[in-house]
Amino acid sequence: MNEFAQQLLTWYLTNQRHLPWRENKNPYYVWISEIMLQQTQVTTVIPYFLSFIHQFPDVESLAHADEAVLMKAWEGLGYYSRARNLQAAAKQIVCDYQGKLPKCRTELLKLKGIGPYTASAIASIAFDEITAAIDGNAFRVFSRVKMEASDIGESKSRLIFEKIGDTLISRTSPGDFNQAIMDLGAQLCTPKQPVCEYCPVAKLCLSYQYGVQLEFPKKAKKIKKKDVYLLADLVINEEGKFLFEQRSKSGVLKDMWTFPLTEVTQQVYQERKSTALLEVKHVFTHLNWYILLQIPPEVVRESSKAARWLALDDLSSYPIPKVQHKLLQGLSSDIRKNQ
Ligand code: ADE
Repeated sequence: MNEFAQQLLTWYLTNQRHLPWRENKNPYYVWISEIMLQQTQVTTVIPYFLSFIHQFPDVESLAHADEAVLMKAWEGLGYYSRARNLQAAAKQIVCDYQGKLPKCRTELLKLKGIGPYTASAIASIAFDEITAAIDGNAFRVFSRVKMEASDIGESKSRLIFEKIGDTLISRTSPGDFNQAIMDLGAQLCTPKQPVCEYCPVAKLCLSYQYGVQLEFPKKAKKIKKKDVYLLADLVINEEGKFLFEQRSKSGVLKDMWTFPLTEVTQQVYQERKSTALLEVKHVFTHLNWYILLQIPPEVVRESSKAARWLALDDLSSYPIPKVQHKLLQGLSSDIRKNQ
């Protein structure tokens, strides 16, 4: 076994948290605990887990549970879609897998509510599959150990961390290895004050050697996007041409051509929704645009803006932004629907 896994497992033997779902490797228990532990803390989960498995002791009973009773059992855990997905997956297991959880990660991934982390956690803990389970703890521990600087907020980074995990994981105790990483992350390799003096793998940890633990994991700061609400006017002349305006020389979509746009408050926007032709959302780096396409009660033009009547055939010679194309596409599918 590699030295990292060896040191980690030795530490886990005496330092692991004793948790009810660890008492045996019943795949159903492992599954229920992993779903409950998504976004809910271990101490909160324990009583819910115990009463849940008492009420629904196996896949079959979960599949046939009354929905209201199930929701009641979930009350307090939050994110009710997790409970609904659990039941949907239980039904899949009854129909497609003779009531037994599938034994490998690939099959587990086919179940409702099971993503890459949960599939690896169940496959390794319950079935000894050699597959690293990458959750927030694993991102933190592996990024520090290897000084891996990939941004953990980017979805493509998951593969990089899975690869690191898959090279370090114990071939003989992959489930314990994954849970040891979780415990190390929860108890020693914590986000703000890691206790490196007690860490069993400190001497194998690159960021510890360089004293840069707190710089990992790397995560780009999320910019809070501003929501902008707009009304787009659909104005057509007797030749069937559309009124377009050129946007100003600065700001978003500068110099490009769109239907006349007016920014409004969220309240006005909500009021106009019921009479609008269609709604389009467009995401920019710093902004979310919410647009209602409307036939304006009156045409009020901002005189500083250039305006033209354009036919669809004219558009190829004008810079037209994607969001305007979305409005046109929405309009043409709306017309087709109503024909
Ligand atoms: N968090 C997610 N899965 C866990 C597990 N099996 N043990 C402890 N904490 C966890």
